Amino acid sequence: MPMHIIPGTGSLGARVEGLDLSQPLSDETLAELIQALGRHGVLKYPKQKLTAAQLKAFSERFGELEVNVANAYQEPGMPEVMILSNIVENGKPLGLADAGQDWHTDMSYNRMIAFTNVLYGVQIPHRDGKPLGNTEFCNMHAAYEGLPEMWKQRLEGMTATHDFNKFWEMMRREKGSTRPPLTEAQRAAKPPVSHPVFMVHPITGKRVLYANPGYAIRINEMSQEESDDALAFLFAHQLKAEYRYANLWEVGDVLMWDNMGTIHNAVADYLPSEPRYIKRCQVAATRFFHADGTPRASNQALVSA
Ligand code: OGA
Ligand code: MN
Repeated sequence: MPMHIIPGTGSLGARVEGLDLSQPLSDETLAELIQALGRHGVLKYPKQKLTAAQLKAFSERFGELEVNVANAYQEPGMPEVMILSNIVENGKPLGLADAGQDWHTDMSYNRMIAFTNVLYGVQIPHRDGKPLGNTEFCNMHAAYEGLPEMWKQRLEGMTATHDFNKFWEMMRREKGSTRPPLTEAQRAAKPPVSHPVFMVHPITGKRVLYANPGYAIRINEMSQEESDDALAFLFAHQLKAEYRYANLWEVGDVLMWDNMGTIHNAVADYLPSEPRYIKRCQVAATRFFHADGTPRASNQALVSA
């Protein structure tokens, strides 16, 4: 069966059928999937059966894989494949239990930002026949478009500081997380970085709102007070119902999203007795940006494709 991309009914999300991710990906298919990620933001590949090595091989076709400094839960011998899970066996957690449990964008705290995250659902909790632990998204192309003209003009050309420690401390302070504070060495490995508030999306060539409540701490060109007000406005604006999409998981789903054009939230509505187990690869945006964060000239070709 040839690959078939079926868009959802909202402004985000598409299903990719007829593609076996355990098999090598052709350059043509890769190019189609990259365009689809830009257009739909979130892609779901149902009914996959993957080894960790196959998940890694598929993911690294999209760019360099990140090894997370703070996630000690890794596939043995494969640090690029991380485990997200609430399962505890013999007193030992099998994975990071509270990954992403509030609105954020992956790796906006890095100089080299994230392109896509690839999650493989091995165990998905259900209650009364319905899946739990949805992953929710908001469309940042639409959020930019939906900004009042005054804000588009005011924030054009401005940059925001993103700090890894913001989300980490929020989890400890507000969510009762057992995460220990980051060590000096971990903080030193993740110094805050700046990115444009409005980023030209490398695949679509359109502006996106590239700020997120998880990591953005300051608009650099504003006073502290102005920045606090502007961020409060943006964080409320980008979560509007009309920008939202929820993914409902099934075992065997591979879920992949564009971290430049969306923000996301892992819904923590399941209990410790309701096991969830996911394998994850994080792909950096190395195909779109140089190491210093400037866009590659080759992005032009994607936009006209
Ligand atoms: C992530 C994340 C969402 C989920 O892996 O970056 O936010 O639903 N996970 O597990
Ligand atoms: Mn995340």
